Amino acid sequence: AQTIGSQLERTLALIKPDAYISMGKIVDEVSKAGLSVAQARMVKLTERQAASFYAEHAEQPWFGDLVGFMTSDAVIALELAGPSAISKWRALMGATDPAKAEPGTIRAKFGHNATANGVHGSDSAASAARELEFFFSGAVSFDQTAVFDNCTA
Ligand code: TYD
Ligand code: MG
Repeated sequence: AQTIGSQLERTLALIKPDAYISMGKIVDEVSKAGLSVAQARMVKLTERQAASFYAEHAEQPWFGDLVGFMTSDAVIALELAGPSAISKWRALMGATDPAKAEPGTIRAKFGHNATANGVHGSDSAASAARELEFFFSGAVSFDQTAVFDNCTA
């Protein structure tokens, strides 16, 4: 059961290519924090899709590295729901650079460097709305066969 009323928020969590192997542990932390997974999907982003998702960072010197990393393998998009879901998930993630993230946070445990940092989380209600729409509204179509590119079994 979830809290109902004005505190209920929804946010987008992404498990990035370097951390989807740890999806179970990450979702366990989500649950322990009192959040629910409302929707989930695994997709492989094209360069155009990754650049669009991160468009606010297009002028950054590390943008090319970020897009390259985000398209290197599949990602898992999660819609998280619960009281203060946006700030709660950001707190669980920890700081952007895993080397500076507080011990015990998801980035500290599952991230690798400032680009391959394990997870993403929406930073505001407006971002959450835009990012949930990106992955879950059907407005963007994803190539599902690409998810299996790296599966050898
Ligand atoms: P940013 O929005 O600053 O961080 P956060 O993900 O914590 O909201 O940056 C978005 C992503 O860009 C970040 O998760 C990883 C990448 N990035 C880099 O590759 N290098 C950097 O120096 C920074 C600051 C971010
Ligand atoms: Mg950000």
